[in-house]
Amino acid sequence: MPRMDARDEKRLPVTLSGVRAGEGPAVEAVIAGCGLHHADITANILRNTIVARKGPRVVGTVSIEVAGSSGLLRSLAVVEKFRCQGVATQLVAAAEKSARQMRIRTLYLLTLTAEPFFSARGFEKVDRSSAPAEIRDTAEFRSLCPDSAVCMKKSIV
Ligand SMILES: CC(C)(COP(=O)(O)OP(=O)(O)OC[C@H]1O[C@@H](n2cnc3c(N)ncnc32)[C@H](O)[C@@H]1OP(=O)(O)O)[C@@H](O)C(=O)NCCC(=O)NCCS
Repeated sequence: MPRMDARDEKRLPVTLSGVRAGEGPAVEAVIAGCGLHHADITANILRNTIVARKGPRVVGTVSIEVAGSSGLLRSLAVVEKFRCQGVATQLVAAAEKSARQMRIRTLYLLTLTAEPFFSARGFEKVDRSSAPAEIRDTAEFRSLCPDSAVCMKKSIV
């Protein structure tokens, strides 16, 4: 079979699914490669993770950490070469759908760089201290994301 070059790979359609067996390290590599922390990614979080693929390659990911009736949308990451093709937009839409199925009513997130991206997708900036206790108790809120990160929320009911 002829080798696929980088341009061919970029043109492949995006497919979304859950994390497949043995794919955890690839997911963590994408997250780390995008400069996001991954120290607290557990099997539980991987179960609520959506992966975007081009062919067999993991090119993007997003997770929901369930915290009572709220969810923390975290680790939205798309490999640089595959950005600005709508991959993150599809991942966020899929994460919202999955959160609704889990009866989550409000999504929260912390971001250092992507506030405009999330604003354009219906998230509003809120005071970090206004998040519910279960969200403030996640490792991301407690210790992993700096105080300078912007807190945002979106009602998904
Ligand atoms: C943010 C990120 C996930 C976007 O991925 P993507 O697949 O390129 O996003 P999409 O193609 O769906 O959307 C692109 C749109 O978002 C905008 N955009 C992308 N990154 C942005 C950012 N950091 N700030 C503002 N806008 C951004 C693009 O300009 C484009 O705008 P348009 O729709 O008006 O043309 C990607 O840049 C990334 O992985 N960044 C590093 C990790 C990160 O910061 N994650 C968010 C914290 S949880």
